Amino acid sequence: MSKKILIVGSLNMDLVVQIETMPMVGETILGRDVQYFPGGKGANQACASGKLGGQATMLGCVGADGFGNSLLQSLANANINTEHIEVKENIATGMAFIYVDTHGSNSIVVVSGANSLCNTEYLKNHDQEFMDCDILIIQMEIAYDAVYYAIERAFELGKTVILNPAPAPKEIPDDILKKIDYITPNEGELARLSGKKCDEIQDIHEGARVLLDKGVKNVLVTIGDRGSVLVNKEGIRQFETRKVIPVDTTAAGDCFNGAFAVAVAEGKQPDEAVVFANFASSIEVTRAGAQASIPTRDEVDALISQEV
Ligand code: RIB
Repeated sequence: MSKKILIVGSLNMDLVVQIETMPMVGETILGRDVQYFPGGKGANQACASGKLGGQATMLGCVGADGFGNSLLQSLANANINTEHIEVKENIATGMAFIYVDTHGSNSIVVVSGANSLCNTEYLKNHDQEFMDCDILIIQMEIAYDAVYYAIERAFELGKTVILNPAPAPKEIPDDILKKIDYITPNEGELARLSGKKCDEIQDIHEGARVLLDKGVKNVLVTIGDRGSVLVNKEGIRQFETRKVIPVDTTAAGDCFNGAFAVAVAEGKQPDEAVVFANFASSIEVTRAGAQASIPTRDEVDALISQEV
């Protein structure tokens, strides 16, 4: 029986513009296409958890508008319990403005809107969902004090805590770091949090050590097409990822995090959970959009049985 996952975080409607190359400051360029996709780091991680077979509930806020409805529908289609996501009047649903270039790389600007109401007060009103879950997964696209409250509450209740520190703040208080079972930065986020440059693998090991020394139990760094690195007191393990031609890397990290949470919920050991998450995100990057590109459990299982 799979453990219960609680996802706390943002829901955004993504407005995605396909371009040749990123514009320079002061430059005007022509886009090739524009599309709307359900997104938001929290909602993407929830969607991945649901599509990959997890038993998951999401906490977050949307506006009382068409985008909010579409986002709730997208999560319901992925089998997520959305009944505690609040629909707020007089504030717009969060939006993300995303440029995707011909290499699948992106630049993102988020306007938080209703995500700003996913605050400590709202989380306190949903304490039952904290009590009912086994695993909390949270990112940093909502107010930091709400993120830290959620981590402290989940820790106090003895839950497994996964923090995806995206977008990364300059620092996370030491007393919060001690309460985290898995922190999952990419190399840029690790550089910001550790204060070390994290380009080469050796630098990444050193950056991860900074967080381990502050009390995080496992540091799991995603490094794009170079795979991922897991650092904990047992040592350092590096994982390759499948070589694919990316179409759009938006939400690759979210898919990885959601998949990792599902595998942990199923009782997989961390190494096995990383392999599962790598397979899921290697499919995700070959498709356009955030939630639209997240694979189903059948697709990931089929790929694993072909390639492992
Ligand atoms: O991680 C990708 C997500 O970041 C997008 O879906 C966008 O909404 C922003 O939150």
